[in-house]
Amino acid sequence: MDTPATPSCVRLPRLGEPAPDFAAVTTHGALHLSDFLGAWLVLFSHPADFTPVCTTEFMAFAGIHGQLRAMNCELLGLSIDSVFAHIAWVRNIEEKTGVRIEFPVIADLDRAVATAYGMVMPGESATEASRCVFVIDPKGVLRAMIYYPLTTGRNTGEIVRLVQSLQTVDAHQVATPANWRPGDKVIAPPPRTQEDAAARMADGSPECLDWYFCTKDL
Ligand code: BEZ
Repeated sequence: MDTPATPSCVRLPRLGEPAPDFAAVTTHGALHLSDFLGAWLVLFSHPADFTPVCTTEFMAFAGIHGQLRAMNCELLGLSIDSVFAHIAWVRNIEEKTGVRIEFPVIADLDRAVATAYGMVMPGESATEASRCVFVIDPKGVLRAMIYYPLTTGRNTGEIVRLVQSLQTVDAHQVATPANWRPGDKVIAPPPRTQEDAAARMADGSPECLDWYFCTKDL
């Protein structure tokens, strides 16, 4: 009998919509997405416990955990492994490296969360989650997604920068340019009418490259 073809269509969540709800088994007990309302959340998946790239990533995520918490942002890991594997692995990381993993990790054995968030890319692996990052805002809205392949460890500094950008965007109704860092100039919202565009140029602001592109300090 023919085996069914591997599904090639992965359903992805969409930016600007409520993040898919979940009730998950984690290393910190049962957790729901709603437990994080009121805080930012970085939900990330890794392919498998006891693998080298993932171990370097867990150490790097532990390194930004305090900085994220100071920004009212929680961290939540996930893989399609058992909670016992997670417990053994985080204990092993601490024993071998001295790095303590204090964020919870979802044991998504039934793939409920991985499926809802489109974390499994069958072309890469039918049994593991790819390296995905989801930034969810305090109202539970999905604000950013990053997908990395199995073989490339993520840059956790970029994840912090992404959350800093989203928080700045929300606080000041601006946008942030390429390679922006806190303290850099931000992008003022573009004019929406010809009249506003003309007014902006009449101001002769030195911070405007042209009518559609003005920067400012916060
Ligand atoms: C790793 O973490 O080393 C790894 C996991 C899955 C595929 C390739 C590398």
